[in-house]
Amino acid sequence: MDISSDPQPAVFSGMLLGVFITFEGCEGSGKTTQATMLQDRLAADGREATLIREPGGTQVGERIREILLDSGSGDISPVTEALLFAAARSQLVRDVIEPALRDGKTVIADRYVDSSLAYQGVGRGCGLEPVKNLNDWATGSLEPNLTVYLDLSVEDGLARVESDQKDRIESEDVEFHVNVRYAYNMLQRLYSHRYVVVNAQGTPEEVHERVFREVQKIL
Ligand code: TYD
Repeated sequence: MDISSDPQPAVFSGMLLGVFITFEGCEGSGKTTQATMLQDRLAADGREATLIREPGGTQVGERIREILLDSGSGDISPVTEALLFAAARSQLVRDVIEPALRDGKTVIADRYVDSSLAYQGVGRGCGLEPVKNLNDWATGSLEPNLTVYLDLSVEDGLARVESDQKDRIESEDVEFHVNVRYAYNMLQRLYSHRYVVVNAQGTPEEVHERVFREVQKIL
């Protein structure tokens, strides 16, 4: 059977009028804070934006999130982990991201495919290519218009995460997180057409001003 001509799922095809912005970065880089501040700022300017966080954002996605982040899930293999992130993401694209973009809305995502490329592809050693192929299938190759990378050293980031609140992935050793940061450096070069690197040091307000300057350029 020739599988090369298999079409993408029809549900993901068609014109997407909205703007899709993703936040990426290592642990403690402030993505959640900055994604929320951006949503508030855009709302104040009369531009309603849908904010989503990964993994999660749908019923099944939130259940997958529990499995993925709970230290009680036992030993999850790297490939299982990659598949679970992609499964949650696929549902989120179909149910939330794609309909919002179709309606012309702005979508802000706290992590997206690049997190899987960095954490599972490089951090866990699954390889960039299989994880990219898996996620192309899961998302219908839906790419962000802009990716804001919040740049912070691994040491500074991990110091911001309370040690008693670390989830299964945050609890990995420093070397794992150094590899993830290295992967993001590669992704910035690979996807330079959509990446902006923002210095994540400073107060939330200072970082927000840097983020907003970049976002304004594409809106
Ligand atoms: P994170 O943004 O840190 O969530 P929270 O702010 O709620 O702690 O994301 C949760 C963890 O999941 C984080 O350690 C990164 C990891 N992750 C992956 O390994 N692959 C992925 O594809 C995604 C989306 C997240």
